[in-house]
Amino acid sequence: MPALLAGAEHYDVPVLDDGTVRLRRLEPRDVPQLALNCADPAAAEFTTVPLGYTEDDARWYVGQFVPEAWRAGREYNWAAVDAATDRLWGTVGLNALRGTTADVGLNFGPHARGTGAAEAACRLLLDHAFPALGLTYAYWMAKVPNWASRKLAWKLGFRSPVRIDGFMEQRGASVDAWILTLAAGDPRTPTTAWDGPPAPGSAGPERRP
Ligand SMILES: CC(C)(COP(=O)(O)OP(=O)(O)OC[C@H]1O[C@@H](n2cnc3c(N)ncnc32)[C@H](O)[C@@H]1OP(=O)(O)O)[C@@H](O)C(=O)NCCC(=O)NCCS
Repeated sequence: MPALLAGAEHYDVPVLDDGTVRLRRLEPRDVPQLALNCADPAAAEFTTVPLGYTEDDARWYVGQFVPEAWRAGREYNWAAVDAATDRLWGTVGLNALRGTTADVGLNFGPHARGTGAAEAACRLLLDHAFPALGLTYAYWMAKVPNWASRKLAWKLGFRSPVRIDGFMEQRGASVDAWILTLAAGDPRTPTTAWDGPPAPGSAGPERRP
């Protein structure tokens, strides 16, 4: 069994903040933006959110699903907000906790993409979760061909991408997935050159590091 985060019994969510992005407990005031984020076409295409997502779905997620999963030590999901305005950027969390490993899951609204908020939120999560839960590995699963997700994982140091056809369950269907791995001691920066397509609208391939 994986370790329980301190305070999980009472749903006491640690606040994590880098001065720009804050991770905090999801609150009812996040419902309208959460519903918009989950109704976005990219969320429907690449995540497991229900289709036709409504504010009722968001209220259930905030008020029931997240607290219950947190207390059970099954999933730990945070709101990622603008530290200055408290506006919700998206959600980020650890799911599929097993042994000393967990998957990172996230969904950010269109207004957050390209701002660096998702990267900052993942860094806060990883810096906290590895020691707090004694994790040895974190995994990243992206539905093929979610290049935005795969590139973010690469920026964070996730490595060794493998493709497993039919590995991801999405609304009852088995869809193809990339899995990437980050060990506790791995650098949180790319260790290989980017091997995906260039950013849309850019001149050519990138070579980092
Ligand atoms: C995945 C997600 C969190 C990434 O957020 P982000 O890092 O702010 O996203 P960006 O739009 O900046 O894209 C990340 C990078 O991928 C690149 N990218 C995006 N789409 C791409 C494509 N089709 N081909 C090649 N590169 C692409 C971007 O140019 C960017 O690279 P850059 O920083 O070098 O310019 C966000 O897109 C999201 O929440 N999407 C909807 C839900 C989802 O896919 N969740 C993840 C499930 S695993």
